[in-house]
Amino acid sequence: MAKNVGICFSGDFAGCEPLSNIHIKKLVYQRLLELIQNNGFNSFVLTRKTYQGNSIFNGAWVFNKGKFKITEERVKIDLVYDRVGGITFPPSCDQMLVVNRRDFKILSWDKWQTYKEIGKYMPKTFWVGELNNVSKVVNKVKTKNIVFKPFNSLKGNDIFIGKKEDLKFFKPERQGRKYILQEFVDTSCGIPNLTEGMHDLRVVIINNKVVWSHIRVPAKGTFLANAAQGGSLTEIDYEKVPKGVKKIVKDISNRFYKKYDNPVFSIDFGINEKGDPKIFEINDQIGFPRWEMKNRDVFLKALVENFKSKII
Ligand SMILES: Nc1ncnc2c1ncn2[C@@H]1O[C@H](COP(=O)(O)OP(=O)(O)OP(=O)(O)O)[C@@H](O)[C@H]1O
Ligand SMILES: [Mg+2]
Repeated sequence: MAKNVGICFSGDFAGCEPLSNIHIKKLVYQRLLELIQNNGFNSFVLTRKTYQGNSIFNGAWVFNKGKFKITEERVKIDLVYDRVGGITFPPSCDQMLVVNRRDFKILSWDKWQTYKEIGKYMPKTFWVGELNNVSKVVNKVKTKNIVFKPFNSLKGNDIFIGKKEDLKFFKPERQGRKYILQEFVDTSCGIPNLTEGMHDLRVVIINNKVVWSHIRVPAKGTFLANAAQGGSLTEIDYEKVPKGVKKIVKDISNRFYKKYDNPVFSIDFGINEKGDPKIFEINDQIGFPRWEMKNRDVFLKALVENFKSKII
C-alpha cells in the first residue's frame, strides 16, 4: 500500500486552502506535494494542531492532482516533513518519523551546541546566559565590533552587532532570553566573483549534496542579512563558491549525513577580510526557493529523494 507523507505546519485545522498563509511560495510547496504524489506516495498537508501522538493526525488535508480536500478522519502518517519550526513539535519522546530528526533540530536551534560541534569553523564564541552577565564576558572578545545574540535567535531578532561600548544601549524586544557573544566577522570585502560587500552565503545540503545556494546582502545601515530584516537574496552558482567554503561543506556534510541520518540543512557563511570563511550558523528549516529560481526543482526533488531514503 502507498505510504503517507505529509508536510506539517502549525495553522488552524479549517478550510480547503491549507497553504493560504504561504503567499509567494505557495506554488513551490504545491510542486513539492505533486512530486511526493508522483513518486507513489499519498500526499498530505498537516497541522500540529490535530496531532494525537503515535504518528496519528485527527484530520488532515489530502492533496490530489493539484487539489486539497479536508478530511476529519484519523490518518497515520509514515513520514512528516516538519515546517513547524522550533523544537516543541513533535513532543520529545514521540516515535514518529520526522525530517529532521530531533537531535539534529536541537543542534541547529541551539547555536551554543552548534559551536560545540563545529566551532572550529565559526567565529570565536562565548556563553553568556542572562543579559546582565555580559559585562563579565565582553572583554574576552578581541574584535572591535562584537555580536551579541540569543543562543536560539530567529530571523535576526534581538541581535546586537556593533561596537563593544554601544552594547549598553541594547534593548531586546523579548525579555528573559539567554545569549552568546561572538567575534564579529567583517564581510565587507565581499566574495571574489560573487558579491562586492557585506553578505551571508547560504549553502543548502540534502542527501550529502549541495542542491541550492544563495547570497543575502543586508539593507543599508544594518549588519543583519536576514530577509526578515530587509536583506536581499540572490541565487548563485555553487561552482563559483570559494574552495575554502567547499572544503568545509564537504567535511560537515559527510559527518552530519552519517551522524544525523541524512538531514536537510543549510550552512551560512561570511567570508572575512582575509578571505577565510566563517560559519554563522546552521539551519534545519530552510526558506524555500522562489518559483523562478534555477535550482528550485533540484532542491524539491532532493527533498523527495530524502523522504524516500527514509521510508522505503
Ligand atoms: N559573528 C558575526 N559576524 C558578523 N555578522 C554576523 C555574525 N553573526 C551573525 N551575523 C549577521 O547577523 C545575521 C543573523 O545572525 P544569525 O544568522 O546567527 O541568527 P538568526 O538569523 O537570528 O537565526 P536564523 O537564521 O536561524 O533565523 C546573519 O545573517 C549575519 O548577517
Ligand atoms: Mg541566520
